[in-house]
Amino acid sequence: MSHGQRDWSEGTEEERSVSDLYAALTDLMSKEGLERLSIHRGLWGPDTRTDAESLDLAKRTLVQGCRLGPGRHVLDAGCGVGGTAIFLAEAHGVRVTGLTNCGQQVAVATQKARARGVGHLVEFRHGDFMELPFADATFDIVLNHESLCYAVDKLAYLQGVYRVLKPGGRWQSLDAELANRNEPLPERHDALLAALEWNWRLPPYRSWRDVLSMVEEAGFTAIEEQDLTSEALPSTDRLRQRYLLFSFLNPQIRDVNPAFQEAMDGSVCFAQGLSEGLFKYRLISATRPIG
Ligand SMILES: C[S@@+](CC[C@H](N)C(=O)[O-])C[C@H]1O[C@@H](n2cnc3c(N)ncnc32)[C@H](O)[C@@H]1O
Repeated sequence: MSHGQRDWSEGTEEERSVSDLYAALTDLMSKEGLERLSIHRGLWGPDTRTDAESLDLAKRTLVQGCRLGPGRHVLDAGCGVGGTAIFLAEAHGVRVTGLTNCGQQVAVATQKARARGVGHLVEFRHGDFMELPFADATFDIVLNHESLCYAVDKLAYLQGVYRVLKPGGRWQSLDAELANRNEPLPERHDALLAALEWNWRLPPYRSWRDVLSMVEEAGFTAIEEQDLTSEALPSTDRLRQRYLLFSFLNPQIRDVNPAFQEAMDGSVCFAQGLSEGLFKYRLISATRPIG
């Protein structure tokens, strides 16, 4: 089966929904005490010593160059269990709306924000970011932290982001995209990509250059990108090793929590793809022009 031609007959749409995958992960994270509220890679700089520091660096990098402060309103599209939204409210006093298509994440994130004393700044909503449920020109900043990959039609999604941003507002995304465009992949990478998209329930990946073209087509200006692959690699590798060990020690996990097993299998594919140059991990940012 080649890239983009998955056999969805292996499961009904409902059984294979993105929200079910994240509900199962949220359930497991809750049982483990939700120590970390992050479902994204860390970034390792020269001074990074721990996983926690790498996750913080990733969040700081995501908002690099953004003017943040009280009175500013941020949309965190695909917010997970609220780690990035809560971090931004705590660190910058900004108002954040988090949107996720997984109801369990809304409940967990809301409770965590209240417990951390930022419930008055952060609101989590259940909804589909392909149909952003917000009025035009609502936000100063829109963020995608490893969630752009889930946008089924990325151009339509970016047009939606443009609509909900105020003129002069900024969109920033940290995510992986394919390194090359329009090139047939070697068979091994084709299989790796198909397995990753299947396990993480993703629409077909696009190249970063395709994404940049779509950002421009949606009307954005001041488009910038930064390759952070080498900063992300230590984190993907550590996750891969941890997951392989976890699977070895918990062979029953495939039956107990198949979605978690799929998420782990996907992370192993992702780590392999990133280290072999199939993907590049990038910060992409762009502005909705004024006027
Ligand atoms: C890899 S997780 C990243 C979560 C969070 N941004 C973080 O960094 O911890 C992807 C998130 O995107 C959400 N998501 C995927 N497709 C979505 C959609 N169409 N609308 C809203 N949220 C979506 C998932 O439920 C999940 O919360």
